[in-house]
Amino acid sequence: MKCTDLVGAFFYPVDTIDFIYPSCTGQMTQSSTKPFLGFGLGLRAEHYQDILEHRPENVDWFEIISENYMVDGGKPLYYLDAIRQDYPMVMHGVSMSLGSTDELDFDYLEQLEALMERVQPRWFSDHLCWTGVDHKNMHDLLPLPYTEEAIVHIADRISRVQDFIGQQMLIENLSSYITYREDAMPEWEFLAAIAARADCYLLLDINNIYVSSFNHRYDPIDYLDGVPAARVWQHHLAGHTNDGNLIIDTHDQDIIDPVWALYLEAAKRFGPVSTMIERDGNIPELGQVLAELEQARRIAEPWYQSRS
Ligand SMILES: [Fe+2]
Repeated sequence: MKCTDLVGAFFYPVDTIDFIYPSCTGQMTQSSTKPFLGFGLGLRAEHYQDILEHRPENVDWFEIISENYMVDGGKPLYYLDAIRQDYPMVMHGVSMSLGSTDELDFDYLEQLEALMERVQPRWFSDHLCWTGVDHKNMHDLLPLPYTEEAIVHIADRISRVQDFIGQQMLIENLSSYITYREDAMPEWEFLAAIAARADCYLLLDINNIYVSSFNHRYDPIDYLDGVPAARVWQHHLAGHTNDGNLIIDTHDQDIIDPVWALYLEAAKRFGPVSTMIERDGNIPELGQVLAELEQARRIAEPWYQSRS
């Protein structure tokens, strides 16, 4: 099945899950195994002033890049504190290097913990990747070989992070451009096995699934069907750049129709999942990103209501 054929595909039931529905402010309103914050945005400096002036009501929450606020003071923390007063937040990191063979960076984790004290995020997340070895940072999110050995390695490190922070975390699937000869299973099986072993949750990036499925020639529906619905707590949506042979996950374009179609399939399978849009380059005015957020709401909400 091509992604462009996904709209209108039949409904797949998923296991019964308890959901939390947001109030008008996006606050969680009842306890449950699967919190739902609604529809959010990645907080970006280009939008700080606009958000403070207009306090858009159709943004239910913001995701921050943790490392951008691990500073002693100044403009980022000023805006963070001001915007946090009106919106729930989650924290998303890029530096944990969970897949590395280097020792976990506990100085980093202490800074993360301190920022969590300040922000009081609903949850924190990082990537299913490694970013360097021998204490050299490659400043890229690199995939792991999909092996049993890697499952044990990374799940153990996630467990140690969760023990240190004192709460469960979400891990995000990458967009990737290479595979390993050692791969013994598809990515979704690898991801599901790690989540089960570490007892963590999933930040399922729909665009990343589309990008990797194009680059590695697999059916993205198999990916959605291969992850445990109850562990999917958050989605990312984003745009990318396609040169015809390879897609690069640039986050500098609008979300394309096949990614929206895949998101619809996710909504059918997973029910209410907190969803946000990542835009990191060629950043348009806030109104344009809000229009994309409304499109996400229009696609997903009918499926949520059909399940309530
Ligand atoms: Fe993402």
